[in-house]
This record gives sequence, structure tokens and C-alpha cells, in this order.
Amino acid sequence: MKILLLGSGGREHALAWKIAQSKLCSELFIAPGNPGTATLGTNISMSVNDFDSIKFFCIEHHINMVVVGPEDPLVLGIWDFFQQEELKHIIVIGPSKKGAQLEGSKAFSKKFMQEEHIPTAAYQEFTAANYDAGIAYLKQHALPIVLKADGLAAGKGVVIAQTHEEALQTFHEMIEERKFGDASAKVVVEEFLTGIECSVFVLSDGKNYCLLPEAKDYKRIGEGDTGLNTGGMGAISPVPFVDESFLQKVKNKIIHPTLSGLQKRAITYRGFIFFGIINVQNEPYVIEYNCRMGDPETEVVMPRLNNDLVEMFVHVANQTLDTITCQHLNQHAATVMLVSGGYPEDYAKGKVIEGLNQLSGSIIFHAGTKSEQTNVVSNGGRVLAVTSLASNLADAVEQSKLNASKITFEGKYYRSDIGYEFI
Ligand code: AMP
Ligand code: GLY
Repeated sequence: MKILLLGSGGREHALAWKIAQSKLCSELFIAPGNPGTATLGTNISMSVNDFDSIKFFCIEHHINMVVVGPEDPLVLGIWDFFQQEELKHIIVIGPSKKGAQLEGSKAFSKKFMQEEHIPTAAYQEFTAANYDAGIAYLKQHALPIVLKADGLAAGKGVVIAQTHEEALQTFHEMIEERKFGDASAKVVVEEFLTGIECSVFVLSDGKNYCLLPEAKDYKRIGEGDTGLNTGGMGAISPVPFVDESFLQKVKNKIIHPTLSGLQKRAITYRGFIFFGIINVQNEPYVIEYNCRMGDPETEVVMPRLNNDLVEMFVHVANQTLDTITCQHLNQHAATVMLVSGGYPEDYAKGKVIEGLNQLSGSIIFHAGTKSEQTNVVSNGGRVLAVTSLASNLADAVEQSKLNASKITFEGKYYRSDIGYEFI
């Protein structure tokens, strides 16, 4: 099969790494890709949201399958776009535009969960039309208060206000000043839940699903989970508190009603569902849905997945995922993310990366890099993900840290405490 993978981050390098191992993959293209994916297939300079160029490319290169990495093209409706005559023979791994609303609209996902009795924080939604009711609601709400821009806001649309003043100010900025553009024309205000988070992933064919290895990511920039939020500074899999009994609750109370809720509404969903879960006194609640894999979670999930990923994708297309078993490697995986100094605020790009060729015992996934003459240079906040597998978590983390220390670029920073609560 000729496969086109869309995206350019660490998640896409990890997906490309797994896809390239498949006996069913004859040729792999990645658009736009990065220097890491270039070692596994052919990078194509094409934006993930440029549907017309993607169409032209797929026809010209006889592509059989398109795997969508990031949420943007899914929320913009790339699955629906591929239903046109010239493209409908191509398998698209990702939900329809309607299905992608699970991530694309917090108001949609909250209403969906409420209707399906899926455990989640209590909430209300507000716009300019009921602004004054929102002010009154916020004033009597218990602290802290969680405010979420309805639409996609590049991971920045959630504010946890510690005081009523901060909540009112944020509410004003989101709705009246459109802090996140149209994405914050509508705001979801919800109850704050206290617990420990984890990420659960399924691959769904619309009828059946496979449960992938779960993961936990480390979002804060500083050690001990302090400082600003980032896209993710590292990840581990498996997650010690996600035992058989917790997982059973996640399946019964969250995964099954989500899939039946989609079916009931005739929403086509043939792709990954990422459940952002919080464990509140041993009960799982949904913090958010994403319509894609996580980053850096994919960098620990793919190395622990024993199945042929492309074979799974074919089962997604045929709606026959019930005929296979998803096999997870018994080992522990840990990813340490190397980031640019200053991230998640301002940081420099273009720093020459050295040491990549002298490493062993880890998989290096490129996240924000580019090739410049004969060098690989930094090209983003999150630069490289170092993943290691071992028989226990501590050894996996140690191995990733060892290789993280051997890679050099000016301003390099990483958290050395990934997995700390469990070691
Ligand atoms: P989201 O973009 O929805 O994933 O939110 C970003 C982060 O905010 C989550 O990963 C949580 O750490 C936190 N968060 C979101 N909603 C809540 C909530 N209701 N209670 C506590 N923390 C939350
Ligand atoms: N690591 C969280 C995310 O991908 O949204």
C-alpha cells in the first residue's frame, strides 16, 4: 500500500516509524514531515490543511491510505473531503468532521457526555447572548473555576482561575475581546476536578475498537510539575494506577457509551479517540476528548504496540477490528522531551544539534527539527523525543536521560523527573 501520513511532529515521526515496519506498507510519504520522518519515507512539502494539494498528490501518486496526525485537518473536514468521487476509494484514518467535534468544540463534547451519562465535570456554556447570566454564574461558583474556549486554541484555551476576579477577567477576555478569536465566542465554565490524569487511546472502526497502551504525559515545564503548561515534556506507558479494575470502569463508563453515542447519532468515526482522563478517588472522569493521538504519548504508545499498525488500519476500513487482538508489549516505555531554552515562551530556533549519531539503546523521534545544509537544527519549542524501553519504568527513564544528556544544542533543556511519582 502507498500511504500518505499528514503532520510534522514527534507524534508523526512515531507513527511513521510504526507504519514503515508494516509488511503492508510499500511506500510512505509524509507531508510535510521532518528530518526524522525523512529516514523512513519521502517528505512532501505540503500543508496538512491544503486539501486541494493533498487531493492532487493522492491521485498522482496512487495513494491507498491517508493517515491524519494532527487535529486541524480533521476538524476542517478532511474525511468528508475524501468522500468525493475521485478520492472515495482511499482509506482515511481519522473521524468525519462531525466526529472531530469531540475535540473541535468543547460545548459539543460536554453536551454529548451529558446526554450519554459519561462522567465529566459539571458545566454551563455561555456566549455574548447570555453574558450577564455567565457573570452571575461565575460569581457564585466554587473555586478554582475552569474556563474553556469552545473551539481549537492550539492547546491554550483552558484557564484555571484561582479567584473570582481572575475568572471574570478571563471570561471578559474570551467572549468580549475574542482572546482566541471565534474559538472563544463560546465559553464552557466547569467544575474543577482533583486527581491524577492519564491518556487512554482507542482505534475505532465505528463498530468495534482496539484499546491501545495507555500513557501519562508531563505537561508542566518544571520538575515536580511546576511552572507553565507545555505541549508535553515527556511520557510514560504503562501507567501504574491504570490497573484492570480502573480500565474496566473506563471501558464501561466512558469508551462504550462514547462509541454507542457516536453510532446513535450516525457520526462516522474511523480513527483514533484520545480520552483525557482524570482519576478522582478511583473513578475515571473525562477531562477532554481529542480526535487524534497525543504528543508525546504516541512516542511511548507506538513502541509498546505489538500489532502491525497498517493491518489495524485496514481492519478499520473494513470494520473488522473485532477479528484481531491488540497486543501490548510487556515492557515499560519512557520518553524524555528535549526542548529549546525559553520554551513554552520565546525561544531561539536554528541551533545545531550534535550527538545524534552516537546514541544507542533509545529511539530518537524528531519533533521540531529541520535540515540545514549538512546539519540538523532546532526548529521548534519541542525539539526531540528520546524514548526507551526497559523491564521497569526506572530503567526506561534512566536510559532516556542518558541519551538526552549526550545530545547537545544551545539552550537544550529537559525534565529529569519524568515518571517521578511512580519511581
Ligand atoms: P484541556 O485542553 O481540556 O486538556 O485542558 C488542559 C488541562 O487543564 C488538562 O490537561 C487538565 O490538566 C486541566 N483541566 C481541564 N479541565 C479540568 C477540570 N475540569 N478540572 C481540573 N483540571 C482540568
Ligand atoms: N499530550 C497531550 C496532547 O497531545 O494533547
